[in-house]
Amino acid sequence: MVEKEVTLNSGHKMPVVGLGTWQSSPGEIGQVIKTALDIGYRHFDCAQVYGNEAEIGEALEEYFKASSTVKRENVFITSKIWNTFHSFEKCSEAVEETLKRFRTSYLDLVLIHWPHGFQEGGELFPKVGDEIQYSDVDYLETWKALEKKVDEGKIRSIGLSNFNKDQIQRIIDEGKIRPAVLQIEVNLYFHQIVLRDFCEANRVAITAYSPLGSPGRPEWMKKGVDTPAQIVLRWDIQKGLAVIPKSTNETRLRENLEIFDFELQEDDMAQLNQFDCNLRLINIADRDGHHKYFPWPKKEVRSGS
Ligand SMILES: NC(=O)c1ccc[n+]([C@@H]2O[C@H](COP(=O)([O-])OP(=O)(O)OC[C@H]3O[C@@H](n4cnc5c(N)ncnc54)[C@H](OP(=O)(O)O)[C@@H]3O)[C@@H](O)[C@H]2O)c1
Repeated sequence: MVEKEVTLNSGHKMPVVGLGTWQSSPGEIGQVIKTALDIGYRHFDCAQVYGNEAEIGEALEEYFKASSTVKRENVFITSKIWNTFHSFEKCSEAVEETLKRFRTSYLDLVLIHWPHGFQEGGELFPKVGDEIQYSDVDYLETWKALEKKVDEGKIRSIGLSNFNKDQIQRIIDEGKIRPAVLQIEVNLYFHQIVLRDFCEANRVAITAYSPLGSPGRPEWMKKGVDTPAQIVLRWDIQKGLAVIPKSTNETRLRENLEIFDFELQEDDMAQLNQFDCNLRLINIADRDGHHKYFPWPKKEVRSGS
């Protein structure tokens, strides 16, 4: 049996299925959030860099006011600290701004979006010509700012996104609070078994992003796969992962949440396990791979199917 919530090492509970909000347009996302709440979503995966948090915050506030049953405490809100906010001061400011966008006194989970930083103080993607401008702020400094916000009661759980094993270990060794969640890409072609085993051994819960493989991407289409989304999502949650599929379509929103009333048998799971070929879809190594904190090698070996 798969539980609908996972208890994080912080003691707080996180719904296993959440709604992804990347590439959900401003002007559209507010209504999507209300529809998702009607359908039963209670976990929203957001980020400063997605540019739609203010509209999500407004929609949530309106919904809580109108509803007699769904209130702030029934909803799990995740946000992420963007690369241009890695210094202690900037990260602290970013959390305060995020609280304002969500019109709330606390966030359920805040992740460091990437381990490597960009130049602070200006654009989200600071550039000279075509070249991104970086910073070398240590992600441990960002972590300490988040820990302080936990102490202040403004964040309940903190975690990481796109960090590698050594970087997570360093946070565990040198930080005060253990990361509650690691958010990474996991889908049918990219299983991340080593990192997942490491997290399991260290009591760090995993959330799978792009769980449907961001359909429409050329790499995915080339593979010609047509596995129903519910099967893929069920495969994830049976492996103990949380999932955050994105949809702005009511039918697909429903479909993606209705994965608790059936079970994949061992041989189904074994078949799906065979698809792994180390095909990473969200890969910015060509752009950022030279940064000393970039989390994975510039060139990765493809394998399998
Ligand atoms: N931490 C990070 O660095 C990071 C990186 C990437 C993503 N994320 C998070 O993970 C979330 C999900 O990842 P993603 O948006 O890349 O991709 P995804 O959830 O794997 O796929 C989303 C795409 O699948 C379509 N879709 C949704 N449900 C479907 C269904 N039942 N059947 C067929 N197609 C379906 C959606 O279209 P419709 O909207 O038209 O349904 C959309 O085009 C993001 O929104 C974001 O919150 C985090």
